[in-house]
Amino acid sequence: MELSKKVEEPPINRLSHLLKIIVQENYLPEANEIVELLNTGQLHETIISYATKVKQRHFGDEIHIRGIIEFSNYCVKQCKYCGIRSNNSKIVRYRMEDEEIITRIKLLHQLGYPTVVLQGGEDPMFSTSRLVNLIKTIKKSVDIVITLSIGERTQEEYVELRKAGAQRFLLRFETCSQELYAKYHPHSSFKKREEALLRIRKAGFQTGTGFLMGLPGSTVEDLARNILYTSKFKPDMIGTGPYIPPEGLTSLSPSGDRNLFFITIALLRLLNPLAHIPATTAFDTFDMRGREKLLKTSCNVFMPNLTPCKYRKLYTLYPSKSRVDKDQWHFLKVDTTLSSLGLTKATGPGDSILPESQNLIQDKGETNE
Ligand code: 5AD
Repeated sequence: MELSKKVEEPPINRLSHLLKIIVQENYLPEANEIVELLNTGQLHETIISYATKVKQRHFGDEIHIRGIIEFSNYCVKQCKYCGIRSNNSKIVRYRMEDEEIITRIKLLHQLGYPTVVLQGGEDPMFSTSRLVNLIKTIKKSVDIVITLSIGERTQEEYVELRKAGAQRFLLRFETCSQELYAKYHPHSSFKKREEALLRIRKAGFQTGTGFLMGLPGSTVEDLARNILYTSKFKPDMIGTGPYIPPEGLTSLSPSGDRNLFFITIALLRLLNPLAHIPATTAFDTFDMRGREKLLKTSCNVFMPNLTPCKYRKLYTLYPSKSRVDKDQWHFLKVDTTLSSLGLTKATGPGDSILPESQNLIQDKGETNE
């Protein structure tokens, strides 16, 4: 069934009961039950209000802030939906120097950020040995938690990066539909992606994953299966956002009702009460108050963009990405914006609170040399 097609409303009492047992008894629903929840507009407000309560129970009104630095837009991959794919000749490429990255991290640290996310395309010039040196240098000069978002590497490489002192890793599986995965990722497969994700966890990282919502050709069933796949993985962090058509591909419009994307995040919160869930930038691209709505309800993490301005406009995963990081969510205004929403900035590094991940939280600030 296409995401945009309406279906008959199923009996409301049964679904209200389903929601209750999800919240009260940690019941893990079947994919078809998630489809029913997504398709029942009458319940959407209740889902959001449950998700808000669950978020508040574990995190209160505190929002963890993670500064993100996009250090390179070179990428060997050809993900069809992504503006920095290697075969997109229309964009200007950049890669930051190690010194520049370190200077930026020092600034971020001075501003009181306890964590930094280093994100880049899969850029062979950022070899694992270069990244290991970079991580060690950072950890020697500032007490900051490092999250990597640099794509697929071998098991040995992930272990080296972990040993160098990076503690967290983000890798979205993008979609768990093998057909859709193959359609959007030439020369790759969902199985390969899943293996990379498992390697990351095995290397001892606090692991974040998630998917793209509304990829053209996807259905409500795909959305439900992605929600379920994520929840069964039990991630420490969940990074999920709507697909935005990239420059030149505006004809490939997103599938589905955008309201469903907010419901998806709420369901992820209900099924993963302890996960750190950021309000991702892509939400602001189609709804000016997208991230704000998420922070007031299901999400407990915000990731201000601290990439130097001259590069930020070149990190074009999708159009208008750089625009939404200005204005009220500019990194210097985050505190004021949060308090205007009745939220507060969390203190401390915001490690995973999943009981099964507590053994991963060590080496606070020291390298493992
Ligand atoms: N729209 C929304 N998100 C995108 N990403 C890549 N391209 C797009 C797009 N067109 C996301 C992918 C990737 C993350 C870094 O950016 O999910 O994992």
